[in-house]
Amino acid sequence: MMKQLWIDRRIQSLFPVALVSLLVVGTARLVLDNLKSNHSQAFQLYGRARAEKHRIPVVISPKDRIEEGCNVFEGEWVWDNESYPFYTEESCPYLVKQVTCRRNGRPDSFYKNWRWQPNGCDLPRFDALKLLQILRGKRLMFIGDSVQRAQFESMVCLVQSVIPEGKKSLRRVPPMKIFRVEEFDASIEYYWAPFIVESNSDHATNHTVLKRSVKLDSIAKHGKQWEGVDVLVFQSYVWWMYKPLINATFGSPNHVKEYNVTTAYRLALETWASWIDSTINPQTQTVFFMSLSPTHLWSWEWKPGSDGNCFNESYPIQGPYWGSGSSLQIMEIVHDTMQQLKRNVTLLNITQLSEFRKDAHTSIYGERKGKLLTKEQRSDPKHFADCIHWCLPGVPDTWNEILYAYLLKNHHNY
Ligand SMILES: *[C@@H]1O[C@H](CO)[C@@H](O)[C@H](O)[C@H]1NC(C)=O
Ligand SMILES: *[C@@H]1O[C@H](CO)[C@@H](O)[C@H](O)[C@H]1NC(C)=O
Ligand SMILES: *[C@@H]1O[C@H](CO)[C@@H](O)[C@H](O)[C@H]1NC(C)=O
Ligand SMILES: *[C@@H]1O[C@H](CO)[C@@H](O)[C@H](O)[C@H]1NC(C)=O
Ligand SMILES: *[C@@H]1O[C@H](CO)[C@@H](O)[C@H](O)[C@H]1NC(C)=O
Ligand SMILES: *[C@@H]1O[C@H](CO)[C@@H](O)[C@H](O)[C@H]1NC(C)=O
Ligand SMILES: *[C@@H]1O[C@H](CO)[C@@H](O)[C@H](O)[C@H]1NC(C)=O
Ligand SMILES: *[C@@H]1O[C@H](CO)[C@@H](O)[C@H](O)[C@H]1NC(C)=O
Repeated sequence: MMKQLWIDRRIQSLFPVALVSLLVVGTARLVLDNLKSNHSQAFQLYGRARAEKHRIPVVISPKDRIEEGCNVFEGEWVWDNESYPFYTEESCPYLVKQVTCRRNGRPDSFYKNWRWQPNGCDLPRFDALKLLQILRGKRLMFIGDSVQRAQFESMVCLVQSVIPEGKKSLRRVPPMKIFRVEEFDASIEYYWAPFIVESNSDHATNHTVLKRSVKLDSIAKHGKQWEGVDVLVFQSYVWWMYKPLINATFGSPNHVKEYNVTTAYRLALETWASWIDSTINPQTQTVFFMSLSPTHLWSWEWKPGSDGNCFNESYPIQGPYWGSGSSLQIMEIVHDTMQQLKRNVTLLNITQLSEFRKDAHTSIYGERKGKLLTKEQRSDPKHFADCIHWCLPGVPDTWNEILYAYLLKNHHNY
């Protein structure tokens, strides 16, 4: 009982008003992206006959396989400025301004040089070519909010350097972004769906943050776009957490009422689960679910007595740490939903490893409403630091190294 109360109180205190303007970053970002989109670049989306894909066996060595029984989500961050980062802000032309912290003026760069070291084994060394071979003739799609978009961008940056100019392209097709690799007939895609289920925030360029209303039982419209995609990676958290209650509909589409966030999240995931169970073909499709991405909004949680946030943090947290922004109730709902699924969905439980990285957020070196912070805003990190989104290169690269490890693990040369 005590524990329950404690968790609830924490949920209530979760997100300050500032969150709204951070979420709007996503909106404005997409608007800007659209303006920049290259319409002269006419290429066919999935025009190529998929039957055409020639299968060259992918060479997977024992070192590429995560050891049986090893929990890659338990471990520590070790300093490794020789192998990391895998790419730079300069070498990857696909990064949006929101994530290029160094270019935006961040003075320290240690955050780029940490490697995630699982306790019992090593992660396979990321090999872009091998990943493309696995993805030959396939579509990999990231679905979720702006945090998920960073994972998409990270993946694009991780693979793009091995593809020659002219053989790759990034296209915006709201609510999607599609990175195509011609020679492999492969694509890495992003689909904006901040609640996974439908909502009035689904419009890629004009979505409401304050007046959000979620359709807890509707997923068909999105689902149409996800059908047949070979690898699906879902994630949804921060948009739910603005208040302890959220406006939503369930059953009758015109009857909006306030739901307890935990109840709403559970109903939404049930809708998602029944879509998965009824639509996914386990022979040809693979599904991943990313656990929640932690925030670092209150420095007193790792530095008792202080009164800041992630601003001016240059090193990871050592030792055990779990921030109160990471809702255990939401975790439990994810866990329960996974248990009840008939299909196999792999949970990539990246919350704990990301919890340690108070140093890796965009802080004042990101954007707000589509613009870099002004000098005045930067001088007020207490109100303007973004402790939700991550710098790139950075933590989302590690999420992708782990995703890569699982794709290797699941790969069979038929
Ligand atoms: C748009 O695409 C064309 C053709 O691929 C290319 O020559 C041009 O540089 C691109 N422009 C931008 C701004 O990316
Ligand atoms: C890497 O880190 C070590 C230890 O901090 C340091 O001595 C060395 O100069 C660094 N190397 C580079 C290339 O930054
Ligand atoms: C955005 O959506 C709102 C409500 O759906 C609408 O009233 C408004 O005109 C839209 N704005 C733009 C720029 O499309
Ligand atoms: C739900 O919508 C009503 C009517 O627009 C609004 O007054 C209320 O504040 C909203 N509730 C939440 C939790 O946003
Ligand atoms: C929300 O629902 C959960 C599960 O039913 C319950 O434990 C919790 O107390 C509720 N929270 C609020 C704020 O009503
Ligand atoms: C950042 O932290 C360092 C010590 O860790 C301190 O010396 C410095 O004054 C801080 N900078 C700001 C702008 O708070
Ligand atoms: C994810 O891992 C954490 C420990 O790191 C654990 O507490 C949590 O229950 C796990 N989540 C799920 C959904 O299994
Ligand atoms: C799920 O995966 C496990 C291990 O890969 C396999 O044994 C099991 O048959 C799969 N279940 C379904 C329903 O596909």
